[in-house]
Amino acid sequence: MKKLAVIGLGLIGASCCAAVKKRARDWKISGYSRTEVTRQQALARGLIDHSFDSVADVVRGADLILIAVPMGQFLSVFRDVESARDPNSVVTDAGSTKGSVVRDIASICGSIPSWFVPGHPIAGSEQSGLDAANPDLYVDHQVILTPDITTAPDAVRVVSSFWELQGSVVSQMDVKCHDEVLALTSHLPHILAFNLVHALSDDDQHMEIFRYAAGGFRDFTRIAASEPEMWRDISLANQEEILKGIDRFAGRLKQMRDAVALGDGAWILRSFQRARAARTLFSSLTDRGTHLVMHSHPSVFTITKMRQGIKGEIRVPGDKSISHRSIMLGALADGVTTIDGFLEGEDAIATVQAFRDMGVQIDGPHEGRVTVHGVGRDGLKPPSTDLYLGNSGTSMRLLSGILAGQSFASKLTGDTSLSRRPMRRVSDPLTGLGAVITTSSDGTPPVKISGGQRLTGCHTDMQVASAQVKSALLLAGLYAEGETSVTEPAPTRDHTERMLQGFGYPVKREGSTASVIGGSRLTACHIDVPSDISSAAFFLVAASIVPGSDLTLSHVGINPTRVGVLEILKLMGADIEVANAREIGGEPVADLRVRYAPLRGIDVPRAMVPLAIDEFPVLFIAACCAAGETLVTGAEELRVKESDRIQSMVDGLKALGASIEGTPDGAVIRGGGPQFRFESGTVEAYEDHRIAMAFSVAGLLCQGRVVVNGCVNVATSFPNFVGLARATGFPLTVSL
Ligand code: S3P
Repeated sequence: MKKLAVIGLGLIGASCCAAVKKRARDWKISGYSRTEVTRQQALARGLIDHSFDSVADVVRGADLILIAVPMGQFLSVFRDVESARDPNSVVTDAGSTKGSVVRDIASICGSIPSWFVPGHPIAGSEQSGLDAANPDLYVDHQVILTPDITTAPDAVRVVSSFWELQGSVVSQMDVKCHDEVLALTSHLPHILAFNLVHALSDDDQHMEIFRYAAGGFRDFTRIAASEPEMWRDISLANQEEILKGIDRFAGRLKQMRDAVALGDGAWILRSFQRARAARTLFSSLTDRGTHLVMHSHPSVFTITKMRQGIKGEIRVPGDKSISHRSIMLGALADGVTTIDGFLEGEDAIATVQAFRDMGVQIDGPHEGRVTVHGVGRDGLKPPSTDLYLGNSGTSMRLLSGILAGQSFASKLTGDTSLSRRPMRRVSDPLTGLGAVITTSSDGTPPVKISGGQRLTGCHTDMQVASAQVKSALLLAGLYAEGETSVTEPAPTRDHTERMLQGFGYPVKREGSTASVIGGSRLTACHIDVPSDISSAAFFLVAASIVPGSDLTLSHVGINPTRVGVLEILKLMGADIEVANAREIGGEPVADLRVRYAPLRGIDVPRAMVPLAIDEFPVLFIAACCAAGETLVTGAEELRVKESDRIQSMVDGLKALGASIEGTPDGAVIRGGGPQFRFESGTVEAYEDHRIAMAFSVAGLLCQGRVVVNGCVNVATSFPNFVGLARATGFPLTVSL
């Protein structure tokens, strides 16, 4: 039996009482409210067992104390709780901002006490008061806890169980991150809704306005019926973050005002399209329960050791490289291109957005289907702002090629990781065609491209084996006079060449050289995107190293320039069966069945490196579990991916007890053989999606559990990784 004290019997506090009464009848609940009537009602409705008219009295003897009062009352409530609580009691709160809460409690206790676990159930509604109490208010709703490093782990466990008992999904975040996110997703929308209704109610005609206001007004302003006192307190408590949100919104509103005033329909359409796409993506991600990994804040994967094999039949999402190219060529084609199996990951969406910003109508993605209304080779419009490409190197490099041939100037930017990546590898050879293109002084983004240059075809001997560089040159070649040819030092993925041909654009391929002649046109077509072998790779390795595994990956792209991972794993002794091989839309596809097999270390043939370049992080995991040494050479490109992937893997694997040494162009890994188990530990993914997923695979074969920090970007290439991993048996949990 537990004793719960609830301070504040409004919607939030009273709903907790109702939920606990419904699910844990042996708990005893004491309740405090400022008003006598509310206390009596709570007793009469059986929500509490005892009522008290002072905070000091209600908390006496309680195991768990929940503070659910408006933010403005926290300071005085904390003072009373601190002096009257039992020494073993755990205290939590339900306030909507967390910075002010920890400041308040620290001001009373001198520091954040170990017994206090700040919390926030994301389950409010415009209703308020005890009358609205609902025992199921928290079912399937998120509760965010923001414990400090000083918070006792046991206290966090007590509070997590309390919310889980009520049906909530509990996650953790740091305080700053919570306040930033909530300022934008909750506080700003409430302020805007209150503000809009207030603005309209100032109007003499407001009765008329309200009488005729239809669904849009009702939907947009529902939350303006919320409790004003509570929202005043929140607005003041999270002042700094809310101000940033208001300024950001005011800037956009001003731009929209200007566009409306100027009659700039194109700008308005692009803005609405961008918003609709973001809203659609948001719905699809939250519907699939993957929203935990979609926003730009640190997220943490925890993987516990696997007790049985990886099993089942899954289809991983669409190929990232092909998805990018399908939008690019679809946009430049004449006619309407339809795409199925499109990767709804953030990288591919960045490409979609860039083309929308250049006036291309793109419908979807919806369940993998995208419709691109091609504008023709010369139909792109100047973007009104910088083209922001998030984390996506492929978008930035391939677009550099396309934009080099346009009549307008453009500027390409990206997130912190992309802003560190080398761009001269594309800007230098494009300059050879006559493009005027600059990067920052150290060769990183932003990439600025002057429009209106006459491009002339020429030959380039590529310095690095990079499909992105090759593709940028071929795409610029569409706009160049004469022939543009590229020779690569080693074979790299050839999706651009294949897809150009699929769009009816002639491409000459002789040995390691590909060339196009500028001036032809592309014709819209249908594209079926196969599953991404780079995403499948995590499961290929997982099933190969976990005893008892038997997994089928369906519809995986097995383009010969991408199958390095299959060849390398087979050389290591993996049991992978390629079944049902077929060709779909110019790309070979097959189902891959993989079963556990003891692996052995190998010298990875250098020629295979570019064919498996994205798969090395997870191949390193396979090598740790193989018997004998694995040597990787000629893979210096790994150092300039989303992170320095050699260093990221060496750091993490050493922390997990593996024997690995990094070299300038690869690594030497002394595998522990089939009996090897990684030590438990915490590793950093450095916000690199492939590092995050690779370490998740390592966690399956560990002695206890592996915690992977910095997994936020997994959705760039593999939006439902968590769901599919769990479906095949990964004991993987996510926290914020
Ligand atoms: C890609 C090419 C590769 C790969 C990237 C996608 C592409 O990069 O790592 O994830 O779609 O062309 P490089 O061309 O830089 O090797």
